[in-house]
Formats: sequence, structure tokens, C-alpha cells
Amino acid sequence: MKALVLAGGSGTRLRPITHTSSKQLVPVANKPILFYGLESIAAAGITEVGVIVGSTAAEIEAAVGDGSAFGLDVTYIPQSEPLGLAHAVLIARPFLGDDDFVMYLGDNFVLDGIGDVVDEFRKNPCDAQILLTRVGDPSAFGVAVTDDQGNVVDLEEKPKAPRSDLAVAGVYLFTPVVHDAVRAIRPSPRGELEITDALQWMIDERMTVRSTVITGYWKDTGNVTDMLEVNRTLLERLQPRVDGFVDEESEIIGRVRIENGAQVRRSRIVGPAIIGAGSVVTDSYVGPSTSVAEDCRISHSEIEYSILLRGASFDGIRRVEASLVGRDVKVTLAPRLPATHRLVIGDHGQVQISS
Ligand code: TTP
Repeated sequence: MKALVLAGGSGTRLRPITHTSSKQLVPVANKPILFYGLESIAAAGITEVGVIVGSTAAEIEAAVGDGSAFGLDVTYIPQSEPLGLAHAVLIARPFLGDDDFVMYLGDNFVLDGIGDVVDEFRKNPCDAQILLTRVGDPSAFGVAVTDDQGNVVDLEEKPKAPRSDLAVAGVYLFTPVVHDAVRAIRPSPRGELEITDALQWMIDERMTVRSTVITGYWKDTGNVTDMLEVNRTLLERLQPRVDGFVDEESEIIGRVRIENGAQVRRSRIVGPAIIGAGSVVTDSYVGPSTSVAEDCRISHSEIEYSILLRGASFDGIRRVEASLVGRDVKVTLAPRLPATHRLVIGDHGQVQISS
């Protein structure tokens, strides 16, 4: 069995972060989201992995390399444009050959991994198997209707009037018949070859598409809110440890990890939180559910429920919450409060101003 990991896409919901970097490499609890997926594939006993890459190919390849760090053998498959999940399967055919495979969306997070579902598929194969999860608002997802044996009888992509609360989660198991399906379907109104259409084609051809409803934690981290939520969930499981320097005037409360070479001076860190290697926190408060990546600078500032990417700095900023801050961003206090706001922000940036 092989794996196909999708790490291309356009990432419009995570702009402007995705203007300059790959969404699959945004760190949660200071590790790229993609790495959790690769680790769960390795843990399921799969070694041959094809990784679909798009405009951020160089960055993904630099981070994942040949896969040996994960115990994997990685082949990169360039996708000229994000033409859909089924398009990714179409172009991966030379890599996949006639093997069964698990398709894993590189920005998805499954807390308990995929070992159980891969085992179930190996022991009891069927044409395809998908993971489903119950959600409050299914209209943002692919939605499945199942019979009483758990076989999928109908699928719809982002329906206005969902017929069930079962959303399709980002893990799919396929036998090679999926290649007939992805060749048979046509692009959807949004111009993509949809994997839900390929699955629906299989159902219409009387093939068996089995489902497993996951009861554990699953998230698609395509937007900032979900990314912060996965970060919070992972930090709650963090092993507390201080490898860096904490001075006597600082207070470390709860589940906190201070990584090697990090420094905390005259500050309060309330966990769960992680301060990355080489980062320096002075005269500040870092509150629950915050991940500070490597080489950040936080001084005279208060930050909680946020993710700071490598090299970000905050100076004199009171209370930042629910934020995702890009690499090498500098946030400083204006020396005197001007009558107007002065903004230098990239395309599609989102800013909230209190007055
Ligand atoms: P999505 O999050 O559905 O799509 P997207 O990355 O284009 O994001 P947005 O909706 O915010 O514009 O994609 C799920 C995963 O699959 C993600 O890791 C990107 C990847 N992907 C590809 O590799 N190729 C594709 O053609 C598409 C559509 C997605």
C-alpha cells in the first residue's frame, strides 16, 4: 500500500500567510502540520509516499527532503495548478501504479492517526473507504449519506441543504478502480476535478464505498480559527520541560515547554504554551494556547491563544489574541498616537482596529 499526500493547493483561506509560504508548513505546537500527517502514515506501516506539490514545491521539498527523517521514501509529484483533489489522483497514476493507496490531505489533522482505518481496509478491502465525522455545519464540507451498514449511498460537495451531518474528513482509501473514476468525471462549476464526484461515480457504478465515522479529533486547518484550535489541542498534550533559560523573576505556570536556547526574563508564561529555540521573552506575558516558534522576540507585550512563526517580534504591544503571525513580522507601538492609522499590509490582509 502507498500513500498520496496533497501539499499543493492555493490556500486562499489562509492569505496572506500563503502568499509567501505553504499552509501545510504552518507550525502547530511548533511542528509543521504536514509532519503530523507524515508521521501517522509511517505509523500505519506505509513507506512509499507521493507528495503532490504546487507553487510552494521548493519549500515543501526543503522541509520534507527524501522522507528518511520520517522513515518514508518520498516522491514529489508536481501539479501545475490546483485543479482539484481528483486531479491530484489523475496525475499521480505513474507513481501509484496498480497499488491500493491512502490519500491524505496535507493540511488535515487526525489526532489518533490513521492506523486503525488502514488496518481495517487491509483486512477487509472494498473499492474505496472514507472517513466521516459529525459536524455542526456540514455545508462547508463534502457531505455523505450512508445506509445502515455504513456504505455511502450519496455524496455532495458543500451542499446548501445538507442531507446529513456527516462530513468527509481528509483521509481516503482507494483501490486502483479510482483511476477509472477520476478519468470519467468532468470539472465541477468551480473548475476542479472533485474527489466527491469520483466517489459518486463509483457509487453509481455499483462499487462499494465504505465509511468509518471517526469519533476522535479531526480538523481541516484551512483557516486561522481551525489552525488555532488544533494548536490548542496539541498544546494540551505537551510534555512540560524547560531546556532554555528562565530567570528568577519569571513565573512558569502549567504545561509549558521552553526549548533549547530560549530565554525568559521578568515574564509570566501561563501554559499550555511553547517558546521555541532561540526566542527571547522579556517583561511580557505569554498566555494559554500560544506557540512561539524559533528566534522570536517578545518584549513588554501580552500574547495569548496565538501562533507566532519564526522570527516574529512584538515590542510594547498590550494584548494580542487569536492571531496567526507570519515569519519575521515586526509589531511595534507607534511612538505617539497619530490621528490616523498608518497601514502597510499585503494583499488580502485582515486587520481589526478598535476605533
Ligand atoms: P483545500 O484546502 O480544499 O484547497 P486549497 O489548498 O486550494 O485551499 P483554499 O480552499 O483555502 O483555497 O485542499 C486540501 C488539501 O489538498 C490542501 O493540503 C491542499 C491540497 N490540494 C492539492 O494539493 N491540489 C489541489 O488541486 C487542491 C484543490 C488541493
